[in-house]
Amino acid sequence: MTTQVSASLVATLPGRAYTDPDVFRREQENVFEALWTCAVRSADLDRPGAYRTVEIGRESVLITRARDGGLRAFLNVCRHRGARLCTDAAGEVRRGLQCPYHAWTYGLDGRLVAAPNLSGMPDVDRSAYGLVAVALREWLGYAWVCLAEEPPSFEETVIGEAVERLGDPAAVERYRVHDLALGRRVRYDVRANWKLIVENFMECYHCATIHPELTDVLPEFANGFAAQYYVGHGAAFGEEVSGFTVDGSAGFGRLPEVADDQDRRYYAVTVKPTVFVNLVPDHVILHRMFPRAADRTVVECDWLYAPEVVASGADLSKSVELFHRVNEQDFAACERTQPAMTSRAYRDGGVLVPTEHHIGAFHAWVTGRLGAV
Ligand code: FES
Ligand code: FE
Repeated sequence: MTTQVSASLVATLPGRAYTDPDVFRREQENVFEALWTCAVRSADLDRPGAYRTVEIGRESVLITRARDGGLRAFLNVCRHRGARLCTDAAGEVRRGLQCPYHAWTYGLDGRLVAAPNLSGMPDVDRSAYGLVAVALREWLGYAWVCLAEEPPSFEETVIGEAVERLGDPAAVERYRVHDLALGRRVRYDVRANWKLIVENFMECYHCATIHPELTDVLPEFANGFAAQYYVGHGAAFGEEVSGFTVDGSAGFGRLPEVADDQDRRYYAVTVKPTVFVNLVPDHVILHRMFPRAADRTVVECDWLYAPEVVASGADLSKSVELFHRVNEQDFAACERTQPAMTSRAYRDGGVLVPTEHHIGAFHAWVTGRLGAV
């Protein structure tokens, strides 16, 4: 629960919530292994046999493009004696997935198809020894997976988060994110707890201090009110600004279905626990976080554009540079904060000012899943 310290100030979580390995272990169990994770971009698995492995909570998840063209997810564990099936982050197999230990072989759909001497064991029911399936849904052109045996409603906990923020189910659909092409991907290895990154993303009190380029493009951010503060609000571009670029120069027009009242605006959406979606008229920036330890989070950030923009070989650098700088500025702030979380000065946490009070709802959500931290 959040604590009101004064009319203006609300208490944050205590420092240990960001450093304690036991809190992180409970988060792995009750957050990352219990909820939906945006794991891979569907188009990265472009043909049958392509696979990716992703660490989620304490598990390694293997995602494959099967022969029927669909995506499947499995625990990356051989059913024989438990060897890790695929150790590379990405790869491609021709026919099936063969365990490097004793050569049990699984189809791309996870079925056990062959094993040495299997024909000499007629009592073995192969169908009982397929890879353990993990729930998978596709949305926004990404494969989302959930390790829970009974996953929570995708419609409520994933799509519902975006709709709640934007106030209209069509608002995100109009960007047709699943049809966009990858223009750039940057992987950031951030030495900070994942919650510091979420909290930072949710507020804009820091924008005037650390984001000079962003506040030039979105002048209202200099006031400290985050775009996420009001339902349905997108921060307006400055009058002189032509596009969402590092110097305000023109971007790539407007994605075809983006509405007039969404044009020249920036929308930020947090899909708890680990995804940020940023919508601007000509592109979408999607962050996927992979918390690796209490003090380490890998963030993969994709810049997505209309396919014809990417195919044309257009120079994306000014467009990408704006949010790349924002990312570096944000992550540097989080890394600056992380070491202080073990200080006696932060034993009882810090405070949120009014423009940050909505972060209290995130803290209540975390403690609601974990119990006291
Ligand atoms: Fe995989 Fe033996 S552990 S085949
Ligand atoms: Fe920021």
